[in-house]
Amino acid sequence: MPRPRTYLYAFAAGAVIALIGLGGVTWLSRPASPPAPATASGTTASGTTASGAVSTASALPAVTVFKTPTCGCCTKWVDHLREHGFEVTVTDLPDLTPVKQRFHVPDPLHACHTAAVGTYVVEGHVPAADIERLLAEQPDITGIAVPGMPIGSPGMEQGDRQDPYDVIAFDRNGPRHVFTRYRP
Ligand code: CU
Ligand code: CU
Repeated sequence: MPRPRTYLYAFAAGAVIALIGLGGVTWLSRPASPPAPATASGTTASGTTASGAVSTASALPAVTVFKTPTCGCCTKWVDHLREHGFEVTVTDLPDLTPVKQRFHVPDPLHACHTAAVGTYVVEGHVPAADIERLLAEQPDITGIAVPGMPIGSPGMEQGDRQDPYDVIAFDRNGPRHVFTRYRP
């Protein structure tokens, strides 16, 4: 009768080894799991730092505004950006058509001024908050625009009048989608 016993011992030994093995795996996986969340939180931390940096005035990229020399609402929009912490350089040009072509601003979105911010183009009276969001989210678009000159947009204030308008995201092929909807 040694055979069943041998099997029994072998089985028992196997079970013990298996348990130790499982325990080992479990035990090993425990110290392994904290580094994973640590890495994840590290990523989150750097992401937070990045977006936090964007929200602080000092980390905002400089804005270059192209406008015509006599444009009053353009100057008011520049003031609006500066009030929101943007460093703005203004370039006066008699004709902005070449700038708008170079920056791929679609014809239907043309407004009175064109600006370059980081890698993006900003056309017209776009609120500073939308530029901040654009820089934080980094969408795959050429830029954002407020076509025309809606009353109540930054730099186009006229008393309490607030016309509805949209900030339009665009790429070189044309308008893409509504980035922000402003409704009184
Ligand atoms: Cu204007
Ligand atoms: Cu303007």
